[in-house]
Amino acid sequence: MNIGILGTGNLAEALGAAWTRAGHEVTIAGRSPAKAEALADRLGAGARAADAREAVTGRDAVLLAVTWTGAADILHSAGGHEGTLEGTPLIDPTNAVEHGVGVLLTGAESMAERVAALAPGAHVVKALHLFASTQWTAPDPERPPVTVAMCGDDQAALKTVGDLVRDLGGVPAVLGPLARARQLEEVAGFTIGLFFSGVDPRSALPGLG
Ligand SMILES: NC(=O)c1ccc[n+]([C@@H]2O[C@H](COP(=O)([O-])OP(=O)(O)OC[C@H]3O[C@@H](n4cnc5c(N)ncnc54)[C@H](OP(=O)(O)O)[C@@H]3O)[C@@H](O)[C@H]2O)c1
Repeated sequence: MNIGILGTGNLAEALGAAWTRAGHEVTIAGRSPAKAEALADRLGAGARAADAREAVTGRDAVLLAVTWTGAADILHSAGGHEGTLEGTPLIDPTNAVEHGVGVLLTGAESMAERVAALAPGAHVVKALHLFASTQWTAPDPERPPVTVAMCGDDQAALKTVGDLVRDLGGVPAVLGPLARARQLEEVAGFTIGLFFSGVDPRSALPGLG
């Protein structure tokens, strides 16, 4: 696939590396063109840098790998408000939570629904927010493949994102429409809260450890 990545940080690098390794092509954009160029160079074959609008245009899928506070800016730069992402699967892995606490900061709505409003016509899929980026760069060979819970309204987009999850070594599990996103986001907040309390989140979910 031809994947657009918005963002040049840890998650962009981890997923960009895993997807290029799987044979996909990634086009990377960030608010810093220099960081996008540097990341594309580090990823090597199959990766290149572009501006945000080009990174999202005509892609099979786009990953929104920026902090939740940067989502509006980068999607605006990409022309999301003008429909550049119309019909495109848009993966939202953002965690709009209070750092170190895990409380959601988006009020009654989910971050995924905010993202959908910022990019009208995009087929938003909430996914890949529950695992640390190291899951995709240094998976524990002793553990079984992880299940990646996701939700979204467009079946074709869910299938595309599911295929990309499999290419990461995960197993996709579709939990329902985008209206379920807040629940998935709360789970990440809960997990983050435990982690920052010094607890292994797996120990709080009996049978899952
Ligand atoms: N890392 C993980 O393990 C992980 C796991 C699950 C979900 N996530 C989620 O994935 C997203 C990215 O996480 P990360 O760890 O990759 O973060 P990161 O390393 O801190 O990178 C954040 C990215 O967001 C960009 N950004 C921040 N504000 C922006 C703005 N106003 N306009 C445009 N770009 C902006 C940064 O650009 P600059 O470099 O120019 O500041 C950078 O490219 C977050 O929403 C996070 O909650 C991360």
